[in-house]
Amino acid sequence: MRIGILGSGDVGRSLTLGFLGRGDEVMIGTRDPAKLQRWHEETAPSARIGRFEETARFGEAIALATLWSGTESALDLAGRDNLRGKVIIDVTNPLVFPGEGPPELALGHSDSGGEQVQRWLMEAHVVKAFNTVGNGLFVKPDLAGGPPTMFYCGNDEEAKRFVRGVITDFGWEPFDVGGIEGARLLEPLCILWVVYAMHVRSRRHAFKVLSG
Ligand SMILES: NC(=O)c1ccc[n+]([C@@H]2O[C@H](COP(=O)([O-])OP(=O)(O)OC[C@H]3O[C@@H](n4cnc5c(N)ncnc54)[C@H](OP(=O)(O)O)[C@@H]3O)[C@@H](O)[C@H]2O)c1
Repeated sequence: MRIGILGSGDVGRSLTLGFLGRGDEVMIGTRDPAKLQRWHEETAPSARIGRFEETARFGEAIALATLWSGTESALDLAGRDNLRGKVIIDVTNPLVFPGEGPPELALGHSDSGGEQVQRWLMEAHVVKAFNTVGNGLFVKPDLAGGPPTMFYCGNDEEAKRFVRGVITDFGWEPFDVGGIEGARLLEPLCILWVVYAMHVRSRRHAFKVLSG
């Protein structure tokens, strides 16, 4: 499948490697393709590099991996028509960085970044996923406690089936939280993950639901 990754930071790069490992064709999108040249040559030569618009056109499915404050602008550059009808895996977290401590949410409780992305892309199928863990564990998380739980949510069942497959292929146990308003629960988990990371000075942890 052709996957377009909108965002070229650590998250976009980790997802690129994950999708390439799954056998997908991948284009990673940025405003400045030149800055990805070295990483491309050294780490992901089989990926394509594009601007946001080319990447949005290329992808049959899209992963959104942009800084929250730049997300609407990135979607404008991508062209909303190029995203119509597509699955959008929303990995963003609506964070603000007030000072030395952990980040805070720019919105929440009665709204979420996932719902905002769905409003920006009314004709696409937004599924929130991969926002509750650091990017170093996105693909094949080799944790002693076994496969962790990847929570995901979205309004479209077919889109969620696709994302569930990606989550499983990446080595996680998928858990469907329901409609996109479930992002109100998933986005604060990102802050909890960061607070734990600050306490234990490590990024090798993930959430897992235990039962029985
Ligand atoms: N870091 C993690 O481990 C992690 C884990 C889960 C979720 N997240 C979330 O995933 C998202 C990406 O994280 P990251 O660490 O990879 O972020 P990042 O490096 O800060 O940003 C990634 C992308 O945002 C784009 N961007 C920034 N400002 C923009 C603007 N004004 N207009 C258009 N595009 C703009 C950049 O475009 P250019 O390429 O053109 O510079 C870049 O491609 C964030 O929302 C983050 O909260 C992060």
